Amino acid sequence: MAGFFRSSFLKAVGCFLLAWTVVPSAPGKAESAEEPPPAAPSYFRDIRPVIQQHCQGCHQPAIMQGHLDLTQYQTLLRGGHSGPGLVAGDPERSLLIAMMEGRRPPLMPLGGPALDRETIAKFRAWVKAGATDDTPIQLDRVSQNEPPVYSSPPVITALAYSPDGSLLAVSGYREVLLHRSDGSGLEGRLVGLSDRIQSLVFTPDGKTLVAGGGTPARFGELQFWELASGKLKRSVTVCKDTLFGVSLSPDGSQVAFGCSDSTVRIHEVSSGKELLKTNHHENWVLGTRFGMDGKRIVSVGRDFAAKLMHAESGAFIENLNKLRKELAAVTRHPSRDRVVVGGEERIPYYYRMDRPKKIFAGQEGTLIRAFERQSGEIFALEFSADGRKLAVAGAGAEAPIYDAESGERLAACTGHEAGIYTLAFHPGGRELATAGFEGRVRIHEVTSGKLLRDFVPVPMKSEMAASGP
Ligand code: HEC
Repeated sequence: MAGFFRSSFLKAVGCFLLAWTVVPSAPGKAESAEEPPPAAPSYFRDIRPVIQQHCQGCHQPAIMQGHLDLTQYQTLLRGGHSGPGLVAGDPERSLLIAMMEGRRPPLMPLGGPALDRETIAKFRAWVKAGATDDTPIQLDRVSQNEPPVYSSPPVITALAYSPDGSLLAVSGYREVLLHRSDGSGLEGRLVGLSDRIQSLVFTPDGKTLVAGGGTPARFGELQFWELASGKLKRSVTVCKDTLFGVSLSPDGSQVAFGCSDSTVRIHEVSSGKELLKTNHHENWVLGTRFGMDGKRIVSVGRDFAAKLMHAESGAFIENLNKLRKELAAVTRHPSRDRVVVGGEERIPYYYRMDRPKKIFAGQEGTLIRAFERQSGEIFALEFSADGRKLAVAGAGAEAPIYDAESGERLAACTGHEAGIYTLAFHPGGRELATAGFEGRVRIHEVTSGKLLRDFVPVPMKSEMAASGP
């Protein structure tokens, strides 16, 4: 599943990335026969990844703590409040090093723990050697003021309606696009750090949009956007790869997600602080959902398991399912402790979170129903707000809608060629939005599946040129 997911992303991302990035060419020189002297640490290879993972959450254009932006070499050199953070050749007199070592309070990363000694030693050696920039070519200057320019529609991996139904949030490359939900236009562009946004969730009060994603093989990130101002309130960088399957507790106070390091983590929405990190899975975790009272959580992943655990202690309760194949999606009934999971096997399975008495583990006594087998792997599952309908999407070209109780197929949303990665019911219940590989958002009538609207959610290069000065 994830193989397909990733390779299809890469293909599509690759197409429009070329619009502003130049791929560094491989060094052409032949290897010298002699042992080279031990090289000084490289900014690009050794320093930048550490900053991306541990520092950028608080030091980026949208959130400049201490007036310091650490996302670019130039801004790193410029420094913050206190002036340049680095004195080339002199780690002792470099503020950035002093703060990482705790010689100058407060310790960075703020809130700790300190970076390990070996990493700090690399920073010292880099500064000592002159703190040079060896970034191959740096043309990527995407920011809130210079939003991405697209030459082809990006793969869409996340969609979410605001609780009042007025907005539809759509994932882009390096940004979230806020559309009016009637499809009449773009209301805002929320440009952050992460190349990819994998999940979007509005808090129940509609004030905050939580976006989860990251930059592959670099860092994962949770972004907390304040909708009234369009400002990034907080960015929390976690894990070493994009994060997946973001979900909120019913009261909106906690956010759960999965990582490629097999952990499920829970952070507090108000502070961004980590509350829990568990390791019950044996492979990437791709989906999470809280139970009705916020005290339990179900997570699914590539280890085939749908795991039930306590959200506060992290204690494992049991696997809800019989292990069959990789799972990619989980959704909870809006008013019952019941979940549907799906993935590689193409069959949505509907489980109770509570085992009926007298049924023992392993008997799969929690299974309510297996829905119809889909035409491709499942990537997304969603209940309507009243819990009566279930929509399913994946590698196939259609998104069927089922009666959640009887399992009967009511309608199918068609029009996509293939690869539907995300879907969302409008809170009013009449419309379902779907999107995926093709980079188009399609809005369907729920009762019939009929296509009502179909649009590319990002401004394309040609349009911008046409409307430009
Ligand atoms: C959780 C947020 C957070 C993280 C993560 C973080 N910082 Fe900071 N940083 C701050 C805040 C807040 C300040 C301002 C502190 C003050 O002025 O007292 C600051 C100030 C600084 C300053 C001083 C800026 C100036 O000119 O006064 C440096 C240098 C710095 N941070 C480096 C780092 C480095 C390096 C990392 C990663 C290893 C890091 N920070 C991670 C929040 C953070």
